[in-house]
Amino acid sequence: MRVPVTGCLQLLGAILENRVAEMQRGHWVVEPASLGWRLVLIRYRVQCLTETTKSDQNGTGRRSSYIWHVSIRQLREVRLEDLLGREPVEMDLELVRRQIEGKAVLVTGAAGSIGSELCRQILRYASQRLICVDQNETGLFYLQQELAGDRETERQAYFFCVADINDEMCMRRLFHEHAPGIVFYAAAYKHVPMMEGNVQEAVKNNVFGLMGLLEIADDCGCERFILISSDKAVNPTSIMGATKRVGELILGCRSANAMCCISVRFGNVLGSNGSVVPLLQQQLENNRPLTITHPEIKRYFMTPREAVALVLEASTIGDHGDILVLEMGKQISILQLARTLIQLSGKTEKQVSIQFTGLRPGEKLYEELFSEAEEITSTDRQKIKRVRCGRRDWPLLARSLEELRASLTVDGAEPVRSRLREILPEYVSPSTNLIDDEQMDGRLIATAAQK
Ligand SMILES: NC(=O)c1ccc[n+]([C@@H]2O[C@H](COP(=O)([O-])OP(=O)(O)OC[C@H]3O[C@@H](n4cnc5c(N)ncnc54)[C@H](O)[C@@H]3O)[C@@H](O)[C@H]2O)c1
Repeated sequence: MRVPVTGCLQLLGAILENRVAEMQRGHWVVEPASLGWRLVLIRYRVQCLTETTKSDQNGTGRRSSYIWHVSIRQLREVRLEDLLGREPVEMDLELVRRQIEGKAVLVTGAAGSIGSELCRQILRYASQRLICVDQNETGLFYLQQELAGDRETERQAYFFCVADINDEMCMRRLFHEHAPGIVFYAAAYKHVPMMEGNVQEAVKNNVFGLMGLLEIADDCGCERFILISSDKAVNPTSIMGATKRVGELILGCRSANAMCCISVRFGNVLGSNGSVVPLLQQQLENNRPLTITHPEIKRYFMTPREAVALVLEASTIGDHGDILVLEMGKQISILQLARTLIQLSGKTEKQVSIQFTGLRPGEKLYEELFSEAEEITSTDRQKIKRVRCGRRDWPLLARSLEELRASLTVDGAEPVRSRLREILPEYVSPSTNLIDDEQMDGRLIATAAQK
């Protein structure tokens, strides 16, 4: 739809003043897709203007009632891109096509947020076959339904394998049957506080599950193995982050026949399973207070589409042992994100309260994409950095990993944590960064009251 450009955002006040009559005839038109997150700002400014002009209306409230009518909820559903505060990254993925076309590709954790997006995008590059592995049967079922109903992917060859990657026999059979040339490894336990209470399982799955599959892939002639890592691996304060860092170390120094092993590290993916946006959206829908752990908590964010496109791009440029880090722009305040969601839902900050619940075990206030010990270098891809730090000696690391494995048989989490600390001196106990309970007492406050 073509609309005349009336002026920039700074002139919004003057435009509203001059064009009330037009607006009342319903000429207020906004092109939602092109404006993206700026709509939030427009609505916010419209609201502020409404507040200031109410008194001019001799109590009729005529203008204000019209302005309230301009509700974003009526214009569109919330898109994840709107929450970024920047334009999503677009890229040319010809290199990816050259790498994937005609190859057998295996994705672990295929039913998950990252894994399923990997499957969607990989199929667009004409892989010879795609093998989707996950232990979540229902998740795979939905992925199967989705791919079968998508015109772009319905004719592609893909297979679904409900299996635990720790099941060595099953994995060897799968690799012999399909001979994947590329593996994207997105299977993991990822919820930080949950893993603090399940330390052995986190290590078993995220460290030894990975090691087992690396060995099988290498034995079966796989050419490329890409580990999906996380910013939580940097100076980890959680078991989950520590297991991801150990994964990076293993890929970085494990001797491999001819297999190229690459870790790709990045921050949060908007809308992923169990993450902050779906949780806040659910609370909004249920008219409940929005819960945020800390007023200052910030995270890096990307949309799943951007993150996975960059992972695919990174997979084409990485050399064996590389850790490639995706550039994620500025960190976003979760409090700000919650406020944006309130605005996008058509509610006001007076109607929805925000409750601060305190940092959870293992959780940090801010994440880091690089550690101080890492040297950051650029790549020929604009949004991908390479980090270098002294590579570990594999025989030494392998011995420490065997000790870590042995600690899993001892009762309690502490032996595991202390073995992890030996491997990762930078891993700190989660209790040191927890917020004082008293500090958090009574912090149920309306956002309006904070301003
Ligand atoms: N979601 C994010 O914001 C984000 C950001 C950066 C990195 N990552 C990393 O990406 C990986 C995947 O994250 P996600 O958000 O897709 O998680 P997710 O929970 O949505 O998906 C993980 C999938 O792995 C599967 N899985 C776990 N253990 C398995 C096993 N032993 N055998 C077979 N399947 C198994 C689960 O069933 C699940 O479907 C994690 O390592 C996470 O740290 C995620």
